Amino acid sequence: MIEMLMEQLVVGPLRGLEPLEQEIFRVRLEAGWEDVKRPLFLLYGDRPDFDSYLRHFLHIVAAAYAERPFDLRLLDVRRTAVPDWYQQSSMMGYVCYVDRFNETLRGVADKIDYLQELGITYLHLMPLLKPRSGPNDGGYAVADYREVNPKLGSMDDLREVATALRQRGISLVVDLVCNHTAKEHEWAQRALAGEERYQDYYLMFPDRTLPDEYEKTIREIFPDFAPGSFTHYPQIDRWVWTTFNEYQWDLNYANPAVFGEMLDTMLFLANQGVEILRLDAVAFMWKRLGTDCENQPEAHAILQAFRALSRIAAPGVLLKAEAIVAPPQLIPYLGVGKAANKECEIAYHNVLMVMLWSSLAERKVVLMTHALQQMPEIPSQTAWVTYVRCHDDIGWAVTEEDAAAVGLNGFWHRAFLSDFYSGRFPGSFARGDTFQFNPKTQDRRISGSCASLAGLEVALESGEETAVGQAVGRAVDRILLIHSMIMAFGGIPLLYMGDELGLLNDHSYQFEPDLAADNRWMHRPKMDWEVAAGRGDGKGVNGRLFQGICRLIEARKQMDAFHAQASKRPVWTHNDHVFGLVRQSPRGQVLVLGNFSEQSQTITRQRLAELGFGGALLDRLNKRYFDGWFELRLEPYQAVWLEKVIGNQ
Ligand code: GLC
Repeated sequence: MIEMLMEQLVVGPLRGLEPLEQEIFRVRLEAGWEDVKRPLFLLYGDRPDFDSYLRHFLHIVAAAYAERPFDLRLLDVRRTAVPDWYQQSSMMGYVCYVDRFNETLRGVADKIDYLQELGITYLHLMPLLKPRSGPNDGGYAVADYREVNPKLGSMDDLREVATALRQRGISLVVDLVCNHTAKEHEWAQRALAGEERYQDYYLMFPDRTLPDEYEKTIREIFPDFAPGSFTHYPQIDRWVWTTFNEYQWDLNYANPAVFGEMLDTMLFLANQGVEILRLDAVAFMWKRLGTDCENQPEAHAILQAFRALSRIAAPGVLLKAEAIVAPPQLIPYLGVGKAANKECEIAYHNVLMVMLWSSLAERKVVLMTHALQQMPEIPSQTAWVTYVRCHDDIGWAVTEEDAAAVGLNGFWHRAFLSDFYSGRFPGSFARGDTFQFNPKTQDRRISGSCASLAGLEVALESGEETAVGQAVGRAVDRILLIHSMIMAFGGIPLLYMGDELGLLNDHSYQFEPDLAADNRWMHRPKMDWEVAAGRGDGKGVNGRLFQGICRLIEARKQMDAFHAQASKRPVWTHNDHVFGLVRQSPRGQVLVLGNFSEQSQTITRQRLAELGFGGALLDRLNKRYFDGWFELRLEPYQAVWLEKVIGNQ
């Protein structure tokens, strides 16, 4: 089969290439062949036209390979020469909206110095392809995958900014919204005009029979402003599957033509210089009656096929899964069984994020320790993307089992967290808001910026002089504590724009009609460059935070032991307020401790010895030695990264 395929490709898309280039393609095809076939066979193997689709997909891959620009070919070579590049502790991510950061793509290029000052090596520019006009879910309703949002710039600008970033050691990350298109996308428009070929690109039903059946078991994503998962379009008298908003139409991946279109789009973006594709809402890509229509085996097969095929054309490119699901469903996105290391290379660790906020609210780390202990190790060539805040709301991914195991009730704990972070809980330090109250399940997600949720907004507002100083200090310490945890955990830590300066909730979205209904905009503020200008002195709140974050990033980069391949074992410290994590690999052994309470805490020397950290210790984060003491004392919200001192180092 490979011989036959190669013969066709060599006279087809590969024909203009040097023999060596053609042979490189052949080698990659041979090496990846099983990984290409396995998932595609699962998806489309029972179709009589399977072989011709397989040829079609490889044709797309060969064409993208042939068109791949010289500098990106070199990047592929460089990446394959250093295959763990994204697992190293030097990786540091930053996430921002182009317009909110600095107006346009060219504006972003002007701020590379700022990013470098922070030590950034990965830049996720939030959705920037051409969206529908009007409300567009922050750009997640794409009308054209081949054009940049004209307000932000052009495809030429995107290529230029990608190159400029790459030259300064920063990989560009862009969203590929692959679960749905805007209803204004050409495919949807042609479907609306009655073209059957394009109606088959989406999931459409002539009446409510099947939608009603499906709705019995699926969850509502936006129960508040977009209830239901199907929308009726009188023009074609069809019910269209719309998981998110009415204007976001779910694609039908049971149709291999859709898979081909998205593969082509993906490689097109890769060839513009995008180094990491954030695959949006991947959990929803396959529907099965009687299930919640999330995390289906076929959704994984689609990702595995994307990965195997993109590896042939652009092996330097990484795939990142955005699947905000419960722990047991999350790990498979990094590949399990035969697909281990063969699905997405990186995925968001939403469980860690949730647990950090849960521990801050409770001042206890019992649930976090238990929940993280339950999560198996991930495949050796993958990495977590760790974060404390992102552009989305926080959904309390706490399972009943994990809660029960530590004596909590899952429902009531989630309710407590929602109360706490929406500021309803008496004495709460947080200032956030409820996002998408679901009256059926009583589920309440939370919006709010990192600083506001961590107490900075309330602290700054409270009147009393001395108390203010203390409360503000506590909030700063909380922000630094949770960031120190995502830096130590392993994988790529993300800094969400503005968190390095403690930007607070911004309510101005309420005055913009297209945004007003969605309070996630409260934690998507505009970058405050005036505040940023004062970052250097390390004095005011913003400067202290900025310097603190820089210090964390700098310290992390020195820690080879934080490589993503090192195991991460949450340990009981015998103090319910202090989280413990052991990172272990041939590169070294580190005990990470974090005090989640506003009192000082101690860990006994005996417990440290039991954990394998007896004797003299060096705290690599605060650059302090510990020797000859009976117990280790942690200040309120303090974190330490402890290494054993060997010999007279
Ligand atoms: C992802 C995005 C979110 C968006 C949704 C639909 O979850 O992070 O912002 O609303 O997908 O595209």
